[in-house]
Amino acid sequence: TDSDSSDRPIFTDLASLYAALAEEDVPPPVPSGAFSERLVPGEGPPQAPILLVGEQPGDQEDIEQRPFVGPAGRVLDACLEEAGLQRGQTFLTNAVKRFKFVPRGKRRLHQTPTAGDIAHYRWWLGEEIRLVGPRLVVSLGATALHALTGKRQSLGPLRGQAMAWQDRRLLPTVHPSFLLRLPDASARAVERARFVEDLRAAREALG
Ligand code: URA
Repeated sequence: TDSDSSDRPIFTDLASLYAALAEEDVPPPVPSGAFSERLVPGEGPPQAPILLVGEQPGDQEDIEQRPFVGPAGRVLDACLEEAGLQRGQTFLTNAVKRFKFVPRGKRRLHQTPTAGDIAHYRWWLGEEIRLVGPRLVVSLGATALHALTGKRQSLGPLRGQAMAWQDRRLLPTVHPSFLLRLPDASARAVERARFVEDLRAAREALG
């Protein structure tokens, strides 16, 4: 069920969009787990020229209700800086607005969002992008790319290159947590350098 726009008000600012999201949003049922009751809104300058889309908040993001404040966020911050971009110059948000997890003892294990979860939040993500009005959108990982383009496609041939998307540009790259999951240190260094290159390409695509 794609989230539908037809009977919604036009939002004029992010604060009212997030307030409506917090109030109206009933996340899709999860067969073996849960969505957090907390919502994680996007964060950054309200008219940032570059907007980054992640997958969904993680455990730490859910607790702080801020995007990219956990381990993946630390990698992202460092790589942005190496690419000559400051986190504070970008608008950071997620395709899915709540942490989806399975409880395991005291821990909450991240669950990958389904196509239905992505569709559920797609309209809200589109509104967020419209309100910020970035010239360039960077998708971090396959889920974000899926959310933005409406189809699942492989990142390989697309990453690092800005393409026309709606009336903006879209540059797909990997998700920073992909780097954290690579067990081999030298592979990790190679992939991290590629990620920094992609972010540099994003900075350059801004002109
Ligand atoms: N991973 C994401 O995709 N988003 C976050 O906010 C944190 C981790």
